[in-house]
Amino acid sequence: MLYKLIKKILFYLDPEKKQNLVLKYTKYIHRSPLKFLIKNKLPTKNIICMGLNFKNILGLSAGLDKNGDFIEIFDSMGFGFIELGTVTPNSQVGRKKPRLFYFPEICGIINRMGFNNYGIDYLLENIKKIKNINTRIGINIGKNHSTPLERAKEDYLICIKKAYLYADYITINISSPNTKNLRKLQFGVLLHELLKEVKFSQKNLCSLYKKYVPILIKISPDINDNELIQIADTLIHYKIDGVIATNTTICRTMLKETKYHEQGGLSGAPLKNISTNIIKKLNLELRGKIPIIGSGGIDSAESAKEKVYSGASLIQIYSSLVFHGVSIVKKIINEM
Ligand SMILES: Cc1cc2nc3c(=O)[nH]c(=O)nc-3n(C[C@H](O)[C@H](O)[C@H](O)COP(=O)(O)O)c2cc1C
Repeated sequence: MLYKLIKKILFYLDPEKKQNLVLKYTKYIHRSPLKFLIKNKLPTKNIICMGLNFKNILGLSAGLDKNGDFIEIFDSMGFGFIELGTVTPNSQVGRKKPRLFYFPEICGIINRMGFNNYGIDYLLENIKKIKNINTRIGINIGKNHSTPLERAKEDYLICIKKAYLYADYITINISSPNTKNLRKLQFGVLLHELLKEVKFSQKNLCSLYKKYVPILIKISPDINDNELIQIADTLIHYKIDGVIATNTTICRTMLKETKYHEQGGLSGAPLKNISTNIIKKLNLELRGKIPIIGSGGIDSAESAKEKVYSGASLIQIYSSLVFHGVSIVKKIINEM
């Protein structure tokens, strides 16, 4: 009821301003006696994945809390894990505004944010400040816009080294459509070189800190069967700990109207089947050797179950939280 009213009031604002405003005011609510409005009391449904115990299967996708400014808020919503980022070694402003577009009539979002973030150090300071949370923290990392592709791995290695002690898992984002050529890192020599270095770094950090932090790769839905097979083989070869399938899509064939042809990555309901198909194929190729985290258009317990039946061990949401509010977390976790 309250959520519907706020939604009506905010209807005319630019989506990015609206999103920032909602997050800011939710932070005030979280510190006030009205905290109960965003707090979900949920049953614990433990699940072990990548050697970690998660209190439930549902996580927050990367991109909504890029800088770790709202960790306690998403924790009180009941998420089993929260993926922060994407962060890069240095802060950057991202792409020109407007760069975020909501389409409530199709429950879809198009974004071309371009990794706007305050840099990994800022995020880590926020994590250090957190006192009492009851969820797992993933840190999603990327490369700076100014770093050439041939040197991208240096950015990932800087971030892994810095994030290692503070993350329950680290995600290598090589699938955003909004950083030029980033998706090329998913293929061939570039992928091999990146994963080799990443695993080497993980091994060294593990013996230094006596702590094993799983490293995940987040992949794009815009890949053909051959590319998918090659990616899966490479992930198995380097013993990558998990794969997030999928990021947003640049495909628009399911949407005929030109208003949806805004440049950027499409998420939410129109992405649902595309990402489920990738998960099914990936599941066949990975043969249970690497867990899959399903992301893309999950907006109900049914669509969450569909991802699990297709092979996902854990699931994440972003767009449906924007369109349906906090109650979606409760619905999915209760009905799973
Ligand atoms: C506005 C926006 C920003 C996003 N930023 C990131 C990001 O920084 N890193 C990332 O890995 N994914 C990012 N994503 C993709 C989401 O994490 C998620 O994979 C995708 O939206 C599909 O899930 P959904 O359909 O539940 O939204 C972003 C998505 C949106 C809508």
